[in-house]
Parts: sequence; structure tokens; C-alpha cells
Amino acid sequence: MSGTTLWWPTCAAVAWLAAGGAEGEEPIYDEARVPPYTLPDPLQLANGSRVRDAETWDNERRPELLKLFETHVYGRSPAPPAWVPFDVVESSADALGGLATRKQIVFDPTGHRGHLEVDMLLYLPNAAHGPVPVFLALNFEGNACICDDPTIRLPRSWMREGNGVVDHRATEALRGVETRHWQVEQVLSRGYGIATIYYGDIDPDFDDGFQNGIHPFFYRAGQTAPEADEWGSIGAWAYGLSRALDVLEHDPKVDAKRVAVLGHSRLGKTALWAGAQDERFALVISNNSGCGGAALSRRCFGETVGRINRAFPHWFCDNFSEYNENEAALPVDQHELIALIAPRPVYVASAEEDKWADPRGEFLAALGADPVYRLLGTDGLPAREMPAVNEPVHGTIGYHIRSGGHEVAPYDWEQYLAFADRHLQR
Ligand code: GCU
Repeated sequence: MSGTTLWWPTCAAVAWLAAGGAEGEEPIYDEARVPPYTLPDPLQLANGSRVRDAETWDNERRPELLKLFETHVYGRSPAPPAWVPFDVVESSADALGGLATRKQIVFDPTGHRGHLEVDMLLYLPNAAHGPVPVFLALNFEGNACICDDPTIRLPRSWMREGNGVVDHRATEALRGVETRHWQVEQVLSRGYGIATIYYGDIDPDFDDGFQNGIHPFFYRAGQTAPEADEWGSIGAWAYGLSRALDVLEHDPKVDAKRVAVLGHSRLGKTALWAGAQDERFALVISNNSGCGGAALSRRCFGETVGRINRAFPHWFCDNFSEYNENEAALPVDQHELIALIAPRPVYVASAEEDKWADPRGEFLAALGADPVYRLLGTDGLPAREMPAVNEPVHGTIGYHIRSGGHEVAPYDWEQYLAFADRHLQR
């Protein structure tokens, strides 16, 4: 989860670049300028008939929606491999001053040992009796960034330095730089494990035509890039999260039926897509995920489909760019992505100053998923209006807008832990 220091200037620069010169128009930051729109109905099948029961949702509408998101937004991902090879390369029962057991696991998400080395760091609370629920999240700067523990292995893959700038050095200076955004000790003290992977281990975050990272291992003979409806980087990172869960299922101290997947910003988009596709994730958290994540595309508020596709052409599938400045033609909108997680608990979090991510659009998407959550017998989102700043609403859908900017703040963690206590603790 990224920090304000490293990110703010870069995001602002990207916003300016995407909005300025080339396109001429300023992003919309004024409700009065939001264009009129009609959202697709999550409970209406493509053939026009209505979904009236859980069975029709599960067997017809859910697969239909999943396919639409695959074809038009994130791209299709390969089928899971039969087996994910992994090795525990380091462990200690006395980590973080005795609070936790640390395991460092190397796995290969392609299913073939030696293709791609992905490092997973796992901390489990020593005070636990029996298997624990776990928060699983990708990180932006290497596993060593999440807390102060000199034993954590530094990344060996591509490292980012700002948006799109390539830099291969992972240095000791990265250790602990994101401690504020992870709250590792607090999470462990509350009885949860925490697992993380550096997202660049799965696919480097720049537009390289998909020549490195995980994609080439799945090309058919003669294929050199994904097809227009095949996975981009978000699809790849989400695939990596599911393979991490495959590995966690083999740890007897992890309760793999109680794994919460969490992500911030582009990794919030990724967590939602992972949770939508993989029903093993018991709870899903989107922190400030914005456009292509929890925010409604049709509002065109802050970042838009056109802006995101031009600034980050590798994140989505190529078909998604057909909707640049053409959001009304999208066969889905992002409330339906949240609905794909139903009836599992989902949390959408916004930040007041994070206008680029459209907080109201995130709230309206959570609200738009509510009819599906209710059809499936849950309390959905117990709010009709957007709550005030720092007044969280926790149903089976959770939502808050907190004061401050684009980051995972300690306040966000307090809400996520309370929400997980309610849904995952026995
Ligand atoms: C940029 C991008 C957002 C993204 C964010 C991030 O601001 O425009 O869509 O969420 O980076 O991942 O930090």
C-alpha cells in the first residue's frame, strides 16, 4: 500500500498529463458537471428477464456478468494450474519480538517450478489456538516495506520508482517504509495472520508489451501478446493472489476459508477483481480503488476510462479502450463488479481528498450492488445516502469516507479489523 510521500506528486503528474495538453479538458470535480447516466441493472439478464432468486443469480446472471467483465474490462485469465509448486525458504517462530511466526515462501504461480519466482511473506500470531483468518494483500515496494524486520528478503525483480519509471535496484532503504500503511503488529495482536507479495514479482507495472512477468508463460505457440480480451496486468496480479491462496491452503495454521483479500488503489482494483473471480476469498477490501475499481465509470468524475487507458495501457484488456469517452456503451459498470462478490462481505473505502478516485462514485457502486446482496439474503449496505466523513457503515457491504488523502491510513485498518471481527471471527 503506497504512501503519500512517494505517490502524491506522481499521481498528480499523471492526472495532469492525462487531463491536460493531449486532451484539453479538465477532469470533472463538480457534481453539477457529472453527465446524466443510466446504470445497467445487475439483476437483469441479457435476455431481458429478471433475476428473482439465488439460483438464477448463481447459475445464470453471475456467470454472464463475470464473462462481460472478462471480455470488456480486465481480460480472461488462464485456468489455474493443477499444482502451485512452493518452498518455505525461511521461517522463525520468534519474529517481531515473539508476537509472530514468520514464513517466507517462494512459489511459482505458473504452476511450473523455475518459470517465475514469487516471494510471499506470511506472519501468523503466536497467541493463536488453531488456524487463523489471514489478510492477504499485494504491496508496492517489496515485502520488506511492510514492517521493520531485517530478515525479510528484498525483491529480486523489477522495482518501481514513480509511475512507469523502471529501476532494478531494491535497496535496504525500502525496509519498513510502509509501516504506517500496514499496521502489522495490530493485525497480529487482533488474532489475524498477514500475508503479502510484491506485485512486481508477478508482473512489472509498466507497458512493456507483456514481454516480461507472467504473461509470456501462457502464450500459445507464436503468440507474442495477449489478445484483446485476454488479461492485462490487473488480471495478472489478481491471478497471483489466487495462486497465493492455493499455497496458503497448504498451511495448517492458516484457515484458508477465512482469507480476506485487500488492496489499495490499483491494487484495490486488483483485490476486487480477484474477489469477484475467486469465490474462495471470504472477504474483499477495496481501499481508494477509484476508476476501474469501485468507482462507477459512467460518472466520469475525476479519472475516466479514457484517461486510465491512455496513462496505463497495460492494466486492462485492450477491449476496454473501446469505451474511452464512450462509457454509456459499456455493458457493465463497477457496481456489478462488487455484486460479483455477493454474498461475501465486501468493504469499499474512500478518502475525502482523493477526488481523483471519485468517493461518491465508489459509494454509489457499493449501493448499486446492494440489491444483489439483499436478494442473496444479507443486509447489504445499511445506508441509502452517502454517510458523512468518518462515519462508517458496516453491513455485509461496508463503506466509509475518511478525512485525508490517498493512502491506507491507520483509521482504515481500524475499520477493516472491526469488519473482519464481525464477519470472520468465530
Ligand atoms: C494513479 C491512477 C489510479 C490508481 C493510482 C494508484 O493515480 O490514475 O487509477 O489507482 O495511480 O494505483 O496509486
